[in-house]
Amino acid sequence: MDKIRIRGGKRLEGIIPVSGAKNAALPLMAASLLTDSKLTLSNIPYLADVITMANLLVQHGVALHMDEKSLDPSGFGRTLTLQAAKIENFTAPYELVRTMRASVLVLGPLLARFAQAKVSLPGGCAIGTRPIDLHLKALEQMGALIELADGYIHAFVKGRLQGADIAFDKVTVTGTENIMMAAVLAEGKTTIRNAAREPEVVDLAECLVKMGAHIEGIGSDTLTIVGVKSLRDASHRVIADRIEAGTYAAAAAITGGDIELSGIDLKALSNVIEKFAEAGVLIEASANGVRVSRKNGLHGVDIMTQPYPGFPTDMQAQMMGLMTIADGASMITETIFENRFMHVPELSRMGAKINVHGSSAVVRGVERLAGAEVMATDLRASVSLVIAALAAKGDTLINRVYHLDRGYERLEDKLAACGAEIERVKA
Ligand code: UD1
Repeated sequence: MDKIRIRGGKRLEGIIPVSGAKNAALPLMAASLLTDSKLTLSNIPYLADVITMANLLVQHGVALHMDEKSLDPSGFGRTLTLQAAKIENFTAPYELVRTMRASVLVLGPLLARFAQAKVSLPGGCAIGTRPIDLHLKALEQMGALIELADGYIHAFVKGRLQGADIAFDKVTVTGTENIMMAAVLAEGKTTIRNAAREPEVVDLAECLVKMGAHIEGIGSDTLTIVGVKSLRDASHRVIADRIEAGTYAAAAAITGGDIELSGIDLKALSNVIEKFAEAGVLIEASANGVRVSRKNGLHGVDIMTQPYPGFPTDMQAQMMGLMTIADGASMITETIFENRFMHVPELSRMGAKINVHGSSAVVRGVERLAGAEVMATDLRASVSLVIAALAAKGDTLINRVYHLDRGYERLEDKLAACGAEIERVKA
């Protein structure tokens, strides 16, 4: 397995192109199952999770083509065409779902268009139990018959799914996406209350509208969808990855650096800007994106994760990495997932002072971290170690790089281009 070696202490300076958003690309790719016409998606990031979704769709029968020559001038962002004209296999197998929970996004589309689907239950996951009961309950309200057997969800519907009034008990991102995709082909009107408002949900809704779907309330917590019989071909550009951008903002900040994140606008970072500012990090609009800089000291800030537009759970670990060398204490509270502090013991091995009490972690900033051999068990936890390593004294060796490859496109190239001393050590 590959490792990443980082020698800390280099100030980041330069330009980092922001890739297309992983969490927008995955549901958009699944949406191709809703029609026999072609869906063309540009600005697709080249990531392990995107490959997994591609493999899943291909085994269902989707004809998929990735245009290698379609890269944006930045050298990132590919164009993918998908056509689900001949779907013969309605099963999402355990081997694929196990490696990526977002595979469950094929459930809504398959059931809506083909009246059947068999999807492996995702099973345990590093950041908590993460059930999908809300997806299933909503589909049942739409008339689906659901049985759980042999580790699989067996879902059927007689005729078409029926519109329903669905109120989610909890805000769920992929749950909202799954039900929205199911509802666009259902008979009648579906209302989704307490819907997720994440920009990635909005991006999916906007693409579905281009495909001919009737959706109102996009971007609000109440979506009203009137089903249609079929959808048509469409082209859509995936939004920029606000979590990737936020991650590099934290990386620049911890080194006292000054970088431009190109291809993303200030608005996409609106729910994190304030916390960065409180910490002493300036994020402002620039010629081709946003500029991130820090001239003075870092200050400890309190953070609580919340559904959008609150502070994203997917930025929690990176902020904690940043806070390890801030002046004063920070209290970081995770309200979305129950087990999302796996980066704490690893950051502690690098000299961070962190105490966890239930769902909160108190971080007391130290003068300097020290490089160590570390590993992490999920994507954002891994990248928080990269952030810490950039400011640590000496070398840090990060194991299990495959977590990073799931969500960060050519991370080492992007950071090295800004002066980081970082290399991939091939197994
Ligand atoms: C998505 C994102 C992930 C992000 C998360 C929260 C994708 C591919 N992944 O994950 O990066 O961290 O949103 O912003 O977009 N829940 C239930 N029952 C359900 C569904 C969810 O109890 O049926 C709970 C979860 O356990 C969790 C909370 O609801 O505590 C939110 O989870 P959810 O928004 O569904 O996360 P994902 O969509 O899996």
